[in-house]
Amino acid sequence: MLTNIEQMQKVKSLKDVEIKDKRILIRVDFNVPIDSHHNITDDNRIKEALHTINYCIDHKAKTIVLVTHLGKPKNGYNEDLSLKHIIKRCERLLDKEVTLVEDFLRDRTIIDNAQDGQIFLLENIRFYAGETKNDETLSKQLASLCDVFVNDAFGTSHRAHSSTVGITKFVPTKVAGFLLKREIDAFSKALFKPVEPICLVIGGAKVSSKITLLNNIIPKVNKIIIGGAMSNTFLKALGNNMQNSLIEDEYLEEALKILKTAKEAKVNIYLPVDVVITNDIQHPIDIRIVPVQDLLESFMAVDIGPATVKLFEEAIGLSNTIIWNGPMGIFEIDRFSKGTFRIAHAIADTYAYSIVGGGDTASAANLAGESENISFISTGGGASLELLEGKMLPGFENLEQI
Ligand code: 3PG
Repeated sequence: MLTNIEQMQKVKSLKDVEIKDKRILIRVDFNVPIDSHHNITDDNRIKEALHTINYCIDHKAKTIVLVTHLGKPKNGYNEDLSLKHIIKRCERLLDKEVTLVEDFLRDRTIIDNAQDGQIFLLENIRFYAGETKNDETLSKQLASLCDVFVNDAFGTSHRAHSSTVGITKFVPTKVAGFLLKREIDAFSKALFKPVEPICLVIGGAKVSSKITLLNNIIPKVNKIIIGGAMSNTFLKALGNNMQNSLIEDEYLEEALKILKTAKEAKVNIYLPVDVVITNDIQHPIDIRIVPVQDLLESFMAVDIGPATVKLFEEAIGLSNTIIWNGPMGIFEIDRFSKGTFRIAHAIADTYAYSIVGGGDTASAANLAGESENISFISTGGGASLELLEGKMLPGFENLEQI
């Protein structure tokens, strides 16, 4: 029986179908970070989709309709989440005119009367209430805009929405874009027949959000490095007084269970031996480095310490496959970013095949200046997490198979 990841690898790509003179709808994930002045602060997700869009242009598609969400609008139109803030960047990166369709239900004649090769961007698809409900009517309305549906929104492929899943029931030809293919191939390389030793570096705030991942991955790796606030829960479970550190007390038992399962599977677990602590995250004046046994009263751990960095560097350096998901501390605050950045450098310095889960970890690798030196950085945060949890992503489910 095929594993979920093998099954996802079997989806047909754009290359496997005829697109000349066809109307193409591409579900992209242009959910990019935007600051309070509506400036895009990281356009990587748009850049990563260019390969697919350019292929459709070069192969003479009749029309190209791009569909994406931006943020999580709750009640219809929201000026701050309008795609008018990102369309200029799309045009610049594509070097083509792109027409924003404010309401494709009201303005659909613009698309029906398009000139050959014209490119459209539908306004934020989450302005339509039906999108997140995977509503059938909206799915059909989207499907009526195309002959070929291309899912290239890896970052949204864990969501069963109208534009990612519902639409596939009403379009005869539905395939993966090149980004979707690249992502699944990269994860497959790390999870399916990888070169040993395989090391998972995991961090972030909560054990609770990574339990399924840990349980799924223990049998597939040789070692697991645990940092970030989630390591506090493990350290407390082992008897350390973590004082005011972020702890999930209801997961202490679970943490011990994970350590036991890992031991039985002969998977080495590396936990911090020292931490950076402060008594005030917002105004950190008193910052110290202490062994995990010696946290001061009313202080909390905010980063891994230098001895831990050395320990983790050693373990990383001896690996041939590295999967990294989650920062080692509060890296968004300059003074607590050292641990995370040193781990990014350590991973980048290896000759291992290295893959970074999206979201926070991708931006940490970027800020550390190491994104070029990591084998693959995923564009998906939640999606890459679910993939590592071993789940089948709904966005792949109804695509045609080879
Ligand atoms: C993401 O940023 O992870 C994707 O675009 C999905 O966004 P969502 O969590 O709002 O569904």
